[in-house]
Amino acid sequence: MTVADELPAVTDGAAAAAAPEASEEEPIEQRKNGLYPGVSDELAENMKSGWADTELRDLRPVAQAAETAARRAALSARFPGERLVIPAGNLKTRSNDTEYPFRASVEYAYLTGDQTEDGVLVLEPKGDGHVATLYLLPRSNRENGEFWLSGHGELWVGRRHSLTEAEKLYGIPVADVREIADELRGATGPVRVVRGYDAGIEAALTDKVTAERDEELRVFLSEARLVKDAFEIGELQKAVDSTVRGFEDVVRVLDRAEATSERYIEGTFFLRARVEGNDVGYGTIAAAGPHACTLHWVRNDGPVRSGDLLLLDAGVETHSYYTADVTRTLPVNGRFTELQKKIYDAVYEAQEAGIAAVRPGGKFRDFHDAAQHVLTEKLVEWGLVEGPVERVLELGLQRRWTLHGTGHMLGMDVHDCAAARVESYVDGTLEPGMVLTVEPGLYFQADDLTVPEEYRGIGVRIEDDILVTEDGNRNLSAALPRRSDEVEAWMAALTDSKDSKG
Ligand code: GLY
Ligand code: MN
Ligand code: MN
Repeated sequence: MTVADELPAVTDGAAAAAAPEASEEEPIEQRKNGLYPGVSDELAENMKSGWADTELRDLRPVAQAAETAARRAALSARFPGERLVIPAGNLKTRSNDTEYPFRASVEYAYLTGDQTEDGVLVLEPKGDGHVATLYLLPRSNRENGEFWLSGHGELWVGRRHSLTEAEKLYGIPVADVREIADELRGATGPVRVVRGYDAGIEAALTDKVTAERDEELRVFLSEARLVKDAFEIGELQKAVDSTVRGFEDVVRVLDRAEATSERYIEGTFFLRARVEGNDVGYGTIAAAGPHACTLHWVRNDGPVRSGDLLLLDAGVETHSYYTADVTRTLPVNGRFTELQKKIYDAVYEAQEAGIAAVRPGGKFRDFHDAAQHVLTEKLVEWGLVEGPVERVLELGLQRRWTLHGTGHMLGMDVHDCAAARVESYVDGTLEPGMVLTVEPGLYFQADDLTVPEEYRGIGVRIEDDILVTEDGNRNLSAALPRRSDEVEAWMAALTDSKDSKG
């Protein structure tokens, strides 16, 4: 479907509100006054002209243009002689005529640097390799009224890049996306498509592709992202740096959160994410008190109370889609109680052991095993589960309180590279350039009768973003204190500096 087909039934503008549905048989320009109540022939004519030429002629390529070209070359080498189709995806309806903010598919953004809805990258086999074409929607037509009468016209949604501009930005030849379905239907030879993003594109290919072969394409693009290039590592560091500032913002407003709810924390972090980045990389978990024991607590509608802990798991996503994933568990009033500190310090010790196990040549599972070992020792030492430690680990009994895996790959998805094969990821070996989280936790549910009453409702997780280097690792989120005494000092300094500013 083209943009020109889609006139809004009801919008918030008088002219467009008055326009009935258009169709390909009846272009807007051919419609007569009366078919558009409130749009005279004179106005329609008037709107066609008097607009400046705004073509941007001195555009530089996007910062990652060299990297996206190298990624396309690797993809081409893996699937010689096959047509490869990678859609960005389409807008999704939130309700009625409102849509969710658009986020292009990771595969498309990774290979192009572009993030435009409805875009499609096609690699067409040619000679020994492939020719890439980026299919995009051109700028809105002013002759047929599309630009101001269609809800997706540029007057409503903002200026798009012209196809020539896009070509300069992304370093890929660009064609009109309205032609792609016909081209794909007519294509011969083997084809693969990344599924799940664009039903129209998949429909055009339905008799040419198989689920199994398409999955191989998805797996390749997931595994290609396991090792980050220099651009990606820089972006991840930017995401983490913004996230650090977001955590500082939150600490400064904890008194406001106490007066309102966890939402104040979510909103405060979101402000930082939107001002410095594209968005949050995943729903912020602002979990105070016993909510910390709910792993994906994103309702964030509970009270924030002095004396409780706040588990904040949040990450800024950069404009290029790379996200941080950081957790700190903070005493709302700035001081851990003795028991909170005991549990916190155990998780810290486990995280230290986990981080120490992140090194090139090591197994991905090593850091999980190291952290679980420490946590299990503590649980046995505290008398919560009967030892010996090795027996508990063998039976997995510690998992009642440790709940989740100790980390995951991080990148353009918070749980990055999720389609990678087990042998390349979970059972794989760490390599320089991989970025992963190390995030052990202990969670004592409020209704867990197997632990002493004072433990119930305490949940602690500490999560950092770790880059595997040539000789070990680097903690990208080291700027946020982790040790309990350092956390307290950091919170005090932030609150003091706020007080002194009045
Ligand atoms: N924020 C989700 C996770 O830590 O995996
Ligand atoms: Mn995580
Ligand atoms: Mn997290």
